[in-house]
Amino acid sequence: MRTIDWAGDAVELVDQTLLPGECAVIRVGTVDGLIDAIRRLAVRGAPALGVAGALGVALAAATEPDPAAAAARLRAARPTAVNLAWGVDEALKHLDEGFEAVLGRALEIRDADIAACHAMGERGADLVCELTGRDRPRIMTVCNTGGLAAVERGTALGVVQTLHERGRLAGAIALETRPLLQGARLTAWELGRMGAPYRLIVDSAGPFLLARGEADAVLIGADRIAANGDTANKIGSYALALGARRAGVPFVVVAPESTVDLATPSGDLVEIEDRDPEEVLGVRGVRLAPEGAAVLNPAFDVTPRDLITAIVTERRVIRPDRGETP
Ligand code: MRU
Repeated sequence: MRTIDWAGDAVELVDQTLLPGECAVIRVGTVDGLIDAIRRLAVRGAPALGVAGALGVALAAATEPDPAAAAARLRAARPTAVNLAWGVDEALKHLDEGFEAVLGRALEIRDADIAACHAMGERGADLVCELTGRDRPRIMTVCNTGGLAAVERGTALGVVQTLHERGRLAGAIALETRPLLQGARLTAWELGRMGAPYRLIVDSAGPFLLARGEADAVLIGADRIAANGDTANKIGSYALALGARRAGVPFVVVAPESTVDLATPSGDLVEIEDRDPEEVLGVRGVRLAPEGAAVLNPAFDVTPRDLITAIVTERRVIRPDRGETP
């Protein structure tokens, strides 16, 4: 199954807002429809957003009177994952050559993502066994970094999948990932489909369970890796990194090269998306907080480089804890 693909004259994507109850594919034939799908997280996860951005420029080339203006709107649909802007920019380089050239570049980006996730899975699985000194490590992870966050296979959850396929996964612990529950809804669904052993926890249990020795490594994805190695990822990642450091557990970022943003010197310069207060005030339309409650809802946080043991990409392993930078 592909999370996102081109289908003749439209983008097809799995509507992730419906999972795990329903696995439905929707067709999106306009740039504004794609922007809406990105904003409501029907398609989400940094690598998938990169492919969406590139395919969206193909849609713009085919349907928009001013494709460059439409691409600029698409590029700004969500601010934190650099992959979206990267995918748009890569496809835009071919706009003057016409629709077929733009689509060709977008399909290359799709195919490169599939290959990159396989490579990260292999490299990451080897590294985790080496760092933990375990043949069958136990992995903690946050948000959803599986095939649903990419095209076919994921980043951090791709490493978990590779370990499982090698018969080397002792177990996964997935944080539920409030407020939108990507861990409970999507990661648990993917781990179940893999047949991998897993347990789901509330986000606030993560650091304590690390202190209690319940996981051998923390693996996360990334939305943007700054030039100095600081890493923006789903809210809750920073707390896990602090807990991992205190517990002496390796904290590993798994992300494609397209997530590395050398134009952003450090994490404090990454724009963090603040989302709708309604996401915090209740769960899926059921109001929990009292009327008048004020909300802070940052969708991402930044883990400083000194808390990161390693960054794994499809090409290399970077060791921020040894002073290496991307
Ligand atoms: O808000 P989301 O669901 O798009 O956030 C996704 C994440 O934070 C992922 O961890 C990140 O994009 C890496 S996905 C391989």
